[in-house]
Amino acid sequence: MIILSVESTCDETAVALVRDGREILTDQIFSQADLHAVYGGVVPEIASRSHVEVIFQLADRAIEAAGVSKRDIDAVAVSYAPGLIGAVLVGVSFAKSAASALGVPLIPVHHIRGHIAANYLAYPELEPPFLCLAISGGNTLLVHVRDYTDMRILGATRDDAAGECFDKTARVLGLGYPGGKPVDALARTGDDRRYSLPVAVIEGRPYDMSFSGLKTAVINLVHHAEQTGEELDRASLCASFQRAVSESLIPRAMAAVAETGCNVLVAAGGVAANSRIRADLEQAAQRAGIRLYVPPLRLCGDNGAMIGAQAYYEYLAGHTGGSNLNAYASMELDTGLPEVAG
Ligand code: KG4
Repeated sequence: MIILSVESTCDETAVALVRDGREILTDQIFSQADLHAVYGGVVPEIASRSHVEVIFQLADRAIEAAGVSKRDIDAVAVSYAPGLIGAVLVGVSFAKSAASALGVPLIPVHHIRGHIAANYLAYPELEPPFLCLAISGGNTLLVHVRDYTDMRILGATRDDAAGECFDKTARVLGLGYPGGKPVDALARTGDDRRYSLPVAVIEGRPYDMSFSGLKTAVINLVHHAEQTGEELDRASLCASFQRAVSESLIPRAMAAVAETGCNVLVAAGGVAANSRIRADLEQAAQRAGIRLYVPPLRLCGDNGAMIGAQAYYEYLAGHTGGSNLNAYASMELDTGLPEVAG
């Protein structure tokens, strides 16, 4: 089954063709990062307009690059939540038109389910059940993936997502947008014990996380140094910040692994590209004697192929959408999906 899949929830427009949920025929991505960099973050209006400009061309390019004809496409999938609403609407409108024009089913896919499914593209042997640490620009979740379309959220951030925290840290240090990669790079030469930064604990909710205190602590530290003329060790601040993020995420993930009895841990999302987090995950998994899957770097960030991968399993479960499909700014990944059959 060949699925044409569309992703437009934030600042990447992406169209892919994926066979049977596991094989990428092509994955075309247009990143808007340069358009938003001057503002230090994503400007929703600019994101929507850019999606409108490129989405048709990207779909044509995907079909050409995959060497298939439009008649070979068996379904159209789209990331319909969560995300910047204007941006998501562009993808949903395009996908509905494409499915209608081709006379094929429409498959709505939750964006974070897509991030999780990116791992199916890289690791043919990977199958649920497993525990997933989903860490992206807009979401931070611990998910028990019981089956391909049966998931339970064990914990989540109460405020900022881990990626957002990276981006704000980069911004206050003047490292540009998106901030994860430059923080990661600068941290390599720093001392992760140089600055003491908070790791929040949520009473009574062992798997929930909070990053707003960490973000504020970094901002205050930088402003204080600016005001007092104290020289800041930026590399060590980045390293200490990454240690705090890692200490928020990894012990919780390992505790969830133990509680669920999963012997497989999977990472997903843009922040899973972080070298410190990848190294700490590897060490923790090795110590616990469990199998770890971390997506290759090209599949950590937003892409269309991950939507096509999850779409295949949603389709097998009977989860298709109709002409009334809408876009949603927020949606839990483990509850029923509105307007979806099955
Ligand atoms: O998954 P993604 O592309 O978008 C969402 O679905 O939200 O994640 C984007 C986030 C950004 O916050 C970006 O700064 C972060 O992933 N990121 C990283 C790294 N590369 C990207 N964070 C930490 N370390 C990295 N190497």
